[in-house]
Amino acid sequence: MSTLKIAVQKSGRLNDDSIGLLKNCGIHIDNGKDQLKASASNFPMDVLYLRNGDIPQYVEDGVADIAIVGENLLVEAGNDIEVVRKLGFSKCKLSLAVPKELDYEGVQYFDGKRIATSYPNTLQQYLDQHNVKADIHVIKGSVEIAPNIGLAEGICDLVSSGSTLFKNGLKEADQILISEAVLVKSKKLTPEQEELLDTLLFRLDAVQKGKK
Ligand code: PRP
Ligand code: MG
Repeated sequence: MSTLKIAVQKSGRLNDDSIGLLKNCGIHIDNGKDQLKASASNFPMDVLYLRNGDIPQYVEDGVADIAIVGENLLVEAGNDIEVVRKLGFSKCKLSLAVPKELDYEGVQYFDGKRIATSYPNTLQQYLDQHNVKADIHVIKGSVEIAPNIGLAEGICDLVSSGSTLFKNGLKEADQILISEAVLVKSKKLTPEQEELLDTLLFRLDAVQKGKK
């Protein structure tokens, strides 16, 4: 019998809402994030708990059939996968930020400056569009620390509540993109798997409608 393998974030902000959404769709997943792979007891589905950044590639390769992932990651990775639904949670922005006392007048400020980010491709595209040449420093986390330790003049990172910016003496300068959690699918699904996905989408749409 065919099953649908869904990849979700192993830990982090998307995880709870992703699992909650499956639950609302009546899919019961046996506990155990430590297993990294779990099965649903009442739906032909396996859940793969993966690192966020790895998910788009797994879906493109067909290792995972579907996934719940932040839109911002898809833009950054540029993978060839299809968004089937926007999910309405984990809303955030990818923004440029600068020290709060700076008199920021526009993106030209970053010309010739150093910017720390975990999203170099999305940032580069934005800078190119605005004809700004900056020096991009890639760091994987705690990006907001960069200006304070003299690593960069500004940063480009996700902003949700804005609390991390605030705590690090930074302010939002420019918004690059707006993102939320999305359901994506591989282009390699079998017809049986497409049917399972349709069943899931039917339930998902009912749940989302109920929320409105
Ligand atoms: C994320 C993101 C921002 C912060 C935004 O970091 O990289 O730093 O959350 O959220 P806020 O606006 O609500 O403060 P995360 O906490 O996941 O840590 P990391 O960047 O070190 O991985
Ligand atoms: Mg962070």
